[in-house]
Amino acid sequence: MTRQRILITGAAGRLGRELRPRLARPGRTLRLLDIAEVGPPAPGEDAEIVRASFTDPEAIDAACRDVDAVLHLGGLAGEATWERIAETNVKGTLRVLEAVRRRRVPRVVLASSIHAVGFHTRGAMDYMVDGTLPADVPPRPDTYYGVGKAACEALGSLYHSRFGIDVTCLRIGAFRTLPLAPEDLAVWLSPGDAARLVEAGLRAAPAGFRVLWGISGNTRRWWSLKEAEAIGYHPEDDAERYAASIPGATAYDPADPRNHRVGGGFCTMPLG
Ligand SMILES: NC(=O)c1ccc[n+]([C@@H]2O[C@H](COP(=O)([O-])OP(=O)(O)OC[C@H]3O[C@@H](n4cnc5c(N)ncnc54)[C@H](O)[C@@H]3O)[C@@H](O)[C@H]2O)c1
Repeated sequence: MTRQRILITGAAGRLGRELRPRLARPGRTLRLLDIAEVGPPAPGEDAEIVRASFTDPEAIDAACRDVDAVLHLGGLAGEATWERIAETNVKGTLRVLEAVRRRRVPRVVLASSIHAVGFHTRGAMDYMVDGTLPADVPPRPDTYYGVGKAACEALGSLYHSRFGIDVTCLRIGAFRTLPLAPEDLAVWLSPGDAARLVEAGLRAAPAGFRVLWGISGNTRRWWSLKEAEAIGYHPEDDAERYAASIPGATAYDPADPRNHRVGGGFCTMPLG
C-alpha cells in the first residue's frame, strides 16, 4: 500500500488539534505545520512537525514536497485589519496554492467560513431551495475576514480551472467541542463531523472545485447539506441534543430579523 502524506497548515489551532487524532490512519503520515508550537508526535503517531509560516515561499514549498493533499487551516480565524487579512489569509493562501502547483499536489481542502457569505439571509428567496441555502451561494462577506475567505475560495477556483487541482472549500460555521450559544444550534460543526467532512473532501472524485457548508446535521440548520452529502459526508452530530443545556435556546428564533443572516453578529461588528 502506498503511504499517503497530508500536510495540515495551522495544525496548532483549534481545528488542527481536534483533527490531528481524528485524521490519523494506518498508512497515512500527517505533516503538521504551524508558526506556533504543535507539540511533538505522540508515541506511535505518524507525524512530521514543521515549525514555519506558510507565507514563506521556500518553507511552504519544502513542506509540500511528497505530499498527496493539503488541508489548509492556518491563518487569522476572525476579524482583523485589511492589511493583516490580505497578507496572511489571502497572500498566504496564494503561497500555499503556488507551492501545491509547483509540487504537483493533486488535492487541497481549504478552510473557508460562513462569513464569506454572511449577508445572505434566510429570506433570500432568489437562492433558497426547498427551504435551505445552497452551499455555493455567491460571496456576500460580512467583514474583511469574510472578504479574505471569499478571495481564498476564488483562488481555489482559479487553481482548479488553470491547473486541474482538486479544491474543496469548507464554509465552516461554529466549530466547537459542544454548542454553547443559541445561534450554535443552527451552525455548529462538531469535531467528529469536521473530520468526516475533511475525509470526504480528501476522497472526492472526479477532480473538481466545490464549496460546501461546514456544519453538523443540526435540526435547526437552514443550510443545505446536499452538496456535501454528494461527496460522501454523513454527519453524525446534531446540536439539538444539547439544546436543553443552552440558556436561551428555546426562545431563539433564527428567522427573527436580528438572527436571520448567515453571518449573525459578524454583520454588525466594527470592521478591521
Ligand atoms: N473555529 C471556527 O469556528 C471556524 C469557523 C469558520 C472558519 N474557520 C477557519 O478554520 C481555520 C482554523 O480555525 P481555528 O479555529 O483552528 O483557528 P485558530 O486561530 O485556532 O488556528 C489557526 C492556526 O493558524 C496558525 N497560523 C496563523 N498564521 C500562520 C502562518 N502564517 N503560518 C503557519 N501557521 C499560521 C496559528 O498559529 C494557529 O495555530 C481558519 O482558517 C478559520 O478561519 C474556523
